[in-house]
Amino acid sequence: MPKTLADLVTLRYGIETDLGADRPADGLLAQILDRRSHRRWKDDPVPEDLLQLLFACAFSASAKSDLQQSGVVVVRNKAVQQKITDLIPAMPWIATAPVFMVWIGDNHRIRRISEMRGIPFGNDHLDSFLNAATDTALAMQTFILAAESQGLGCCPISNVRNHTDAMKDLLGLPPHTFPYAGLCVGYPSREGFSSMRLPLSRFVHDNTYNEATLEADIDGYDRRRAARHAPPKESWRDVEKWGEPEFYGWSEDKARQVAVTERDNLGPFVRAQGIKLD
Ligand SMILES: Cc1cc2nc3c(=O)[nH]c(=O)nc-3n(C[C@H](O)[C@H](O)[C@H](O)COP(=O)(O)O)c2cc1C
Repeated sequence: MPKTLADLVTLRYGIETDLGADRPADGLLAQILDRRSHRRWKDDPVPEDLLQLLFACAFSASAKSDLQQSGVVVVRNKAVQQKITDLIPAMPWIATAPVFMVWIGDNHRIRRISEMRGIPFGNDHLDSFLNAATDTALAMQTFILAAESQGLGCCPISNVRNHTDAMKDLLGLPPHTFPYAGLCVGYPSREGFSSMRLPLSRFVHDNTYNEATLEADIDGYDRRRAARHAPPKESWRDVEKWGEPEFYGWSEDKARQVAVTERDNLGPFVRAQGIKLD
């Protein structure tokens, strides 16, 4: 059992630390440090009043210029939830999730407001897309943290963006909106695990961006991570193409993952939805 926040930081980063050694492992920081995605669910339903309370928390997140360009479609219809799973068969946790929703970047509402007020919308460019995506990410993560604080587990699903046209039809998305991510929600049936992160030196730069120790940091991270959860050989990606290295760590896996072009449908979809990306 973790006693102090330092125990949770050590677990998260796989590096012994005193950071937080003077604080007990409880409260919001402990919850954030120990959070994890879940993909297996108990049958227990999520009470509707709790769900609505979590949405109230989610949309309390910061929002760029108070434009509030996010939204969520709760998929109440189980047949639609199954259709979405059928599009993404590798992720059966979508079908089994007691609640499934799709978070929506919404640049539609502010344009409607411009129309309502008879004032032209003057921001038809990439920043509108980025702001809507950011608001939506912040709202979704706020929902996740709120849900986790209540014993629920969540799993975002970016794979809905592989099927943007189907999402538009199934969810009735108007122009200037886009599916950001699905989210499975339920009471987890397994404990899950704290997924190890890169060392803080890779995220936090003092004064200027600094990658002097990048290679050593990545190598150390690969080794620490593999010592905890070595990827089983059956899960190695594209062995026919990239071979069987002596050591297969996180960086090898991620390099192989991003070698495969995915989701190049998104830009054309967002443009077809009327959002300029220039
Ligand atoms: C925007 C976003 C999209 C994601 N999409 C998927 C997905 O399609 N399928 C899935 O199983 N997990 C998905 N995840 C979960 C990540 O795999 C997970 O957050 C990551 O492995 C780190 O694990 P942790 O959340 O337990 O710390 C997504 C997470 C985010 C933030």
